[in-house]
Amino acid sequence: MTEAQKQSALAHFSVLIDEQDARAQAIAAQSDFVDYTKLDKLIIGVCGGDGIGPTITAESARVLEYLLAEDVSAGKVEFRVIDGLTIENRAACGKAIPDDVLAALKECHVILKGPTTTPQAGDGWPNIESANVAMRKALDLFANMRPVRVPEAGIDWTFFRENTEGAYAVGSRGVNVTDELALDFVVTTSEGTRRIARLAYEFARANGKERVSVVSKANVIKTTDGKFLNLAKEIGGEYPEITTDEWYIDILTAKLIDEKRRRDFRVFVLPNLYGDIITDEAAEFQGGVGTAGSANIGKRYAMFEAIHGSAPRMVREGRAQYADPCSMLRAAAMLLAHIGRTAGAAQLNEALDICMTHERKLVITGRDSGCTCREFGAYVCGTLEKLRA
Ligand code: IPM
Ligand code: MG
Repeated sequence: MTEAQKQSALAHFSVLIDEQDARAQAIAAQSDFVDYTKLDKLIIGVCGGDGIGPTITAESARVLEYLLAEDVSAGKVEFRVIDGLTIENRAACGKAIPDDVLAALKECHVILKGPTTTPQAGDGWPNIESANVAMRKALDLFANMRPVRVPEAGIDWTFFRENTEGAYAVGSRGVNVTDELALDFVVTTSEGTRRIARLAYEFARANGKERVSVVSKANVIKTTDGKFLNLAKEIGGEYPEITTDEWYIDILTAKLIDEKRRRDFRVFVLPNLYGDIITDEAAEFQGGVGTAGSANIGKRYAMFEAIHGSAPRMVREGRAQYADPCSMLRAAAMLLAHIGRTAGAAQLNEALDICMTHERKLVITGRDSGCTCREFGAYVCGTLEKLRA
């Protein structure tokens, strides 16, 4: 390594430190959650995304519009379609989120977002940051809440994944110090940890969940994970009725497969990357990532999405119309709950249980052996109509 290489890496690191320090201060200065039920008008942004995104998002928006029809005609809710969050557009302007799209998103309160293609080195797209990750940061959506339920197996889990820090905070801005030496950075802030831990414990308290598991790898990643673990446990101390336990991510990953042990888990709070990985594993017990919704929650904004990707292969093979909207529909139910429409959220979840598991009059297979996304959406709306009759 030359002195110049070292200085250049240090200069880069110095910029990151300043940015993260500013971010930490901004979090500490933040006001409380916006109460969406008190707004004169709530704006729901609808962003189709890439691949199968527009298909499954349009269908989920249709179901939401059905459930919110009264609010829309009373002028209390407005749906706003936001175009332009496509990989072609993002590549053309070299930004994870084009400026006009970000400005439009910021005029909404909550967003229903289809999956977006994440460029990776060698795939032909410029190597820009993931639109998901960029949106979570730009709107400060610090909590990623991902429920997984398999009642017959005793599985009732809710993951609270920290969504703006950890390995993701500057995940696209590591440094190649030399051809031989690459460094990435992991970030943990005190207030960033406290706010996600508080949300997890508040959820546990409000929903009668008796256990919160704090997950980390603090035995090895001692500084950042160590901070996360200690502060999360400290917050846990404010909730004496809830049992806090600590798990390292490796053994927790194993225990989720242990049929006897896994029934004991309820709420998890964990750093970003571990949460990313383990929620895909967890969703698999429920029928795969196609069945699980994801809420990205901040104090001012919230965004709801599928936990899976944009499935470009389905589009290439001409199968987009057979895409499964269930993950987005679960996300839509989370959106309803988040804006205080809890009855509608419960109805949608019940309708989905009927359509996906109990009745299965129409089945989605991802190809022409099953029904289309549109037909499945109509099936869900028909089921809702019966439930509401
Ligand atoms: C998720 C996804 C994203 C993530 C990708 C698409 C960047 O896997 O929402 O879990 O890593 O967070
Ligand atoms: Mg993931």
